Amino acid sequence: MKRGRFITLEGLDGAGKSTSLEAVQGFLANRGVDVLVTREPGGTPLAEKVRGLLLDTQEETVDPMAETLLLFAARAQHVGAVIEPALARGQWVVSDRFTDATRAYQGGGRGVDGQAIEALACLVHPGLEPDLTFYLDVPVHQARRRIGGGDLFEEREAAHLDRFERERASFHERVRAAYRAIARSAPRVRTIDASLPEDEVARRIVSMLGPFVEEYR
Ligand code: TMP
Repeated sequence: MKRGRFITLEGLDGAGKSTSLEAVQGFLANRGVDVLVTREPGGTPLAEKVRGLLLDTQEETVDPMAETLLLFAARAQHVGAVIEPALARGQWVVSDRFTDATRAYQGGGRGVDGQAIEALACLVHPGLEPDLTFYLDVPVHQARRRIGGGDLFEEREAAHLDRFERERASFHERVRAAYRAIARSAPRVRTIDASLPEDEVARRIVSMLGPFVEEYR
């Protein structure tokens, strides 16, 4: 059995990943590819519970290393129970975020040491990195407008936002800078201009997927 391919979508909150994810899933299914769509943090019952803990807008300030370890705990479960078995049985896995999000949010955003993140990545998913990553790049102000959070939004307006979305614009600027640095250094990453209308973004992603599918066959 030929091992499946691992594709990830990354970007700021409000970059428009959902529409693109649907387009990728539809395109692969049309080409007869057996595809499993999943997300991080989450993807298993345990990892979804950890997601709840991480996104909850709680009183307590979460220590950045505790946050990082929770993300990797959820990822260990996700990789072991879902991602690896699917790839081994020949399914393609499309994940809404993976370790690049930790590199960008915890490394770039929170300032967690990059070497510590890479050490955890080696421990949790040795030898596993996505085969292809779409990074949806969008200016922070545009992403924040899409999720309904202004630059200095009021508490009342932020009620629907999760713990990451509530972070200040400067946090999201650091996350974006980290994503762009990853995209420059990792050849598996394709940067998509996500300031374009969502259907155009999806069209561009799908046009890059065609050759990738053909190459696999
Ligand atoms: P989502 O809204 O795209 O599903 O992602 C949930 C939030 O979790 C998003 O704000 C980014 C954050 N996150 C991290 O900070 N680090 C990670 O490793 C992952 C996977 C997500």
